[in-house]
Amino acid sequence: MATFFEEDLAPHGYAKHLILKSHIEAWLAIFTQSNYNHLVYIDGFAGAGRYGDGPGKPGSPLVFLSSWKKHRLYKNFPETLVILIEKDDENREKLTAAVEEYQQEERLKIKIFGGDFTSLLEKELDERQLHRQPILAFLDPFGYTQIPMTIIRRLMSYGKTDILINFMTHGLRRGIGISVRNAGLKEKINALFGDTDDRVQKAFLELKHENSRDVTRRLKFLTGSYESALKKKGGANYTIYFAMKGPKNDLIYHLFFATRHLKGQIVMKNSMYRARCSNDEELSFSDRDYFRFEHTNLAVKARKEIWLEAAAKKLKEKYAGQRVSVEEVEHYIWAETIFPFRKSIVTRAEPHRIVNKDGTPCKRKGSAPAGSMITFRSI
Ligand SMILES: C[S@@+](CC[C@H](N)C(=O)[O-])C[C@H]1O[C@@H](n2cnc3c(N)ncnc32)[C@H](O)[C@@H]1O
Repeated sequence: MATFFEEDLAPHGYAKHLILKSHIEAWLAIFTQSNYNHLVYIDGFAGAGRYGDGPGKPGSPLVFLSSWKKHRLYKNFPETLVILIEKDDENREKLTAAVEEYQQEERLKIKIFGGDFTSLLEKELDERQLHRQPILAFLDPFGYTQIPMTIIRRLMSYGKTDILINFMTHGLRRGIGISVRNAGLKEKINALFGDTDDRVQKAFLELKHENSRDVTRRLKFLTGSYESALKKKGGANYTIYFAMKGPKNDLIYHLFFATRHLKGQIVMKNSMYRARCSNDEELSFSDRDYFRFEHTNLAVKARKEIWLEAAAKKLKEKYAGQRVSVEEVEHYIWAETIFPFRKSIVTRAEPHRIVNKDGTPCKRKGSAPAGSMITFRSI
C-alpha cells in the first residue's frame, strides 16, 4: 500500500479502488461459476483511465479491466460488456488510449460514450436487452446532482444488479443550504432521493435549526435518508455504506452499495472490512488514521476483538429472551448491521442454550451448526 501513496492518489482514493477491486474479483468469480452467458460492467463517470500524466495510477475502468485480465478464472469468463461514460472530451481521449490494450480481448466488448451519464445510459438501456444479466455499476461523480434515483431503480429492475455509488455527503450538506434559493438545485436534490416534495431538504434544515452545532446528526440523517431511498425508491434489498475521511479525519464522502441479492451484500461487506482502518462504530477509512495506525499490527488485532464484541452485543440486544435459528442470526448480521458474520459472534453473545435441529444439545460447546436453534438470555 505505502508505495502507491507516494504518487497521485490520497490514501482514501486507494481505499476506494481497493473496495471496488475486491468486489469485482469476487463478482466475476460468482457469476462465472453460475454459468451466465454475459456480464455487464458500467462505469458511469469513468474519468481519464489513469491519474496523472504518463503511466500514472490506474483509474476505475483500468481497475476493472486489469482485475478481469489477471483473474484466476479468466479463461472461463463469459462475454463481458464494459460501458464507460465520460463527459469531458480530454478525459475521454485519454481513457480511449488507456483501455486500448484490452480492446484485443475477444470476450471483452468495451464501449466508450461521451456525454451525460443519465441520458446516455437510459438510451443504451433502451437499445440493449440486459434483462437477467448480472450488472455491476460503479457511479463515481464529482458532485451530488448527477445520479437521479430513477436510473438506480432502472438498473436494479434488471435483477442481479450491484451498484457502488460515491455519495457526496459533505457537498450535499452545503448544497441543501444553497438550494433554498435555487429551484434548479432543489429539483436535482429531490431527484437524488427520488422525491418531488423537498422532504429531505426541509427535514435537514429543521435539524439545523434545532441544533446548528450537531453536524454529526445531520450527516447521519442524510446517509439514513439515502439508504432508505435506495430501498424504497431504488428497489434495493440490501444496502451498506462506508465513510471516507481526509487528513483531518473530516468526512469527504460515503461509498454506498446497493444490491438485490444477499450474496452481493456479503461480498461487498467483506471488501469494505478489508479496506477499513478506523473505529468500529461505522465502516470507514480516514487518511489521518491510516498514517497513525495502519502499520501497527497490535491496533489491527485489538480492533478485531472490539468489533466481534460489538457484533455480539447487537445479537444480545436484538434477540434477548428469544429462540431463533442460526440462519436467522446470520442473515440479521449480514443484512442489518455493519459487521460481517463470523460464528464466534454467536459464542461471544453467551446464549443460554444451543440445540441441534432435532432438539438434542450441541456436543461441541459454543458451536452452532447449520439448522441449530439458539436461545438468547433475557436482559
Ligand atoms: C471522480 S471522477 C471519476 C474517477 C474514476 N471513476 C476513477 O475512479 O478513476 C468523475 C468524472 O466524471 C466526469 N463527469 C462529470 N459529469 C459527468 C456526467 N454528467 N456524465 C458523465 N461523466 C461526467 C468528469 O469529467 C470526471 O472525469
